[in-house]
Order: sequence, then structure tokens, then C-alpha cells
Amino acid sequence: MGLSSAALEAFRERLGQWYQKSARVLPWRGVEDAYATWVSEVMLQQTRVATVIERYTEFMERFPTVQALALAEESDVLALWSGLGYYRRARMLHRGARFVVSELGGVMPRTALELRVLPGVGEYTSAAIASIAFGESVAVLDGNVERVLLRVLGEAEEKSSAAKARLMTVAQALVPEATRRGNAPGDHNQAMMELGATVCVPRGPLCLQCPVMELCRTRGEHATRKRDAQKQRRVAHLLQTRKNGTEVLLERRASDASLMAGMLELPPLVLESVSRYEPVLRVKHSITNTNYEVEVFESEALKKEIPAAKKALEWVAVSALNEVPLTGLARKVLVKLGVLAKR
Ligand code: ADE
Repeated sequence: MGLSSAALEAFRERLGQWYQKSARVLPWRGVEDAYATWVSEVMLQQTRVATVIERYTEFMERFPTVQALALAEESDVLALWSGLGYYRRARMLHRGARFVVSELGGVMPRTALELRVLPGVGEYTSAAIASIAFGESVAVLDGNVERVLLRVLGEAEEKSSAAKARLMTVAQALVPEATRRGNAPGDHNQAMMELGATVCVPRGPLCLQCPVMELCRTRGEHATRKRDAQKQRRVAHLLQTRKNGTEVLLERRASDASLMAGMLELPPLVLESVSRYEPVLRVKHSITNTNYEVEVFESEALKKEIPAAKKALEWVAVSALNEVPLTGLARKVLVKLGVLAKR
């Protein structure tokens, strides 16, 4: 496996030209602020660009600096993260900001190696920040980049750490040297991710639009591993309002829940208790590998069927819903039912 040095050079050159011409205009591009890069790269992990665009600007307006984020309450950070999912990322980003302020005098480290000391900053995020914000010649290897490289090399997907290390070697060989003017490494890394996200997509890649098609050994889909099957689950939630619909009853998830700990949702009901009722809403919602069939019930009589302890329940003003850490599902349901305006 590998590419000749001439092939590496041609790949870099064509990819770079394509990126200059075709890069999407995104709110975090061209911003020279390592904190902003950190926020955007954490949001972009496991979340689609379209969703991140909506949330990033608001987050940066509210927490424009690492100091502002460090001073925030965790529940305010989670509130602004609502809809992005994978809330552990937000908690770690918040802890990371506190670490930068309390331990590093508020100054972000400048190299991938040093960035690794921040809570929640691993191999991907440290390389992304170091290259994009500081121009370090270090490769990023996310799922998109892995797919691009596997196809170019003509290899099947393989989940071993040895396979990943080999890909990392190729990714690193492709990254340009640091430059005095411009930011060749940062642009290159973003171009690789961009190619994977927009052209070299998992299903039905757009090879005819690909700047490096002539250098690619696959040209089409490559062999992938079988994905874990998605699980299906039916769940029920209660919608209760009071004071003319100006307050809604929410339940706080346990602080040690494995998913969305401490966040607010519409009180869950057990399926047996709703069998005689008609839902006011049915929606589908996916979280990681589970597809939920969600039913929402509005009957007053169901309030006594809420299995949670009383102290987990709170009445929240509808006007304050954007300031509390709502789960993505609760937000979706409240918007669909017209309780909350889409933001
Ligand atoms: N995915 C994650 N980070 C990205 C970036 N900076 N550019 C394009 N796609 C990305």
C-alpha cells in the first residue's frame, strides 16, 4: 500500500486547486481563532454540517471567547447544544475551556501534542485545531478522510488499529509542509474532509466531479464492513401544559444516565399505561444505533402514570425553553406540536 512521491504531489496539487474553487462557505472558515476552530470541530464530530451551521453562530455569540465559555453554567452550555446530540462533547468542551483558563492562563496550546492535554481533545481534534488554527503540518483522519484514502489506495475497510495506523501514515505523507504565508496544512486537511463530505460520499460517490479521479484505484464504492443493525424501539412521552399553555411539564434525566444525563425531556410513560389512549403525535427519532417510534400523549389522566419521582419533574415556562438543556427529541416534539418556535 502507498502512493509514489509523484502521485502524492499530484494529489496534493489537484486537491488544493479543487478546494480553492469548490470549498463551501462555512461560518467557521477563515476565522483565525483557535477557540472558534475548537468549537466548530467538536460540533462537526458526528453531526452534519447543515445542523452545525445552525448552532455554531448562536453558540459563538453567547460564548465568544474561551473565557466566556469557562464562566458559563453547564446547563447554559447544554441548552445551546440542544439538537446537536452527543452531549458529552459539550460537557468536555466546557471542562476544556475551564482548564485553558485556570491552568494555561487562558491561552490555547499551539501544537497537536500540547493540545492533547485538554480534556476531551483527542487525536482528531488536536490535529484539526493545530493544523487549521496554527498551520502545523499534521494530518487529520476522520471517517471522511479514511474513506477517501481507502478508495484512492483501492483497499477494503478494515477495523484494526494496524489498518488505521497505515492510513495515518499515508494521510501524513500527503499533508504539505507548514508555510510562511497562507495555511497549506489546514487547507489541505479541510479539503480532504470536504472531498469526503461532498464528492467521495459513502453511497454513490460523484467520481466524475472528483479532482483526483485519475489517481484513484477504486472509482466507485469500496468494500465496507457490515454495519451493526439498527434497533427499533417504541417509546411514549407525556405532554402536559398549564397556565393557558405557557408552562410545560418536563422531567430531568438522572445525572448518571448514560445518555443525555441531566437534560430535560417530556416525561416518559410506560407503554402499558398508554394502550387505551390515542397519541397527539407520532414521530421517528434516531439516537446512535436505535430508531425510536415516538408517541406523545396529552391526556390529563396520564399524569399519575408518570413513573419518575416527583422531584425529577419541573414546570418550565415556554418562554424559557431555549435557555434550558432540552433533549433533541423534546425540542423536535415541542416544535412539531407548536409549543415552541423553531430556532
Ligand atoms: N468535517 C469536520 N471538520 C471539517 C472541516 N473543517 N471542513 C470540512 N469538513 C469537516
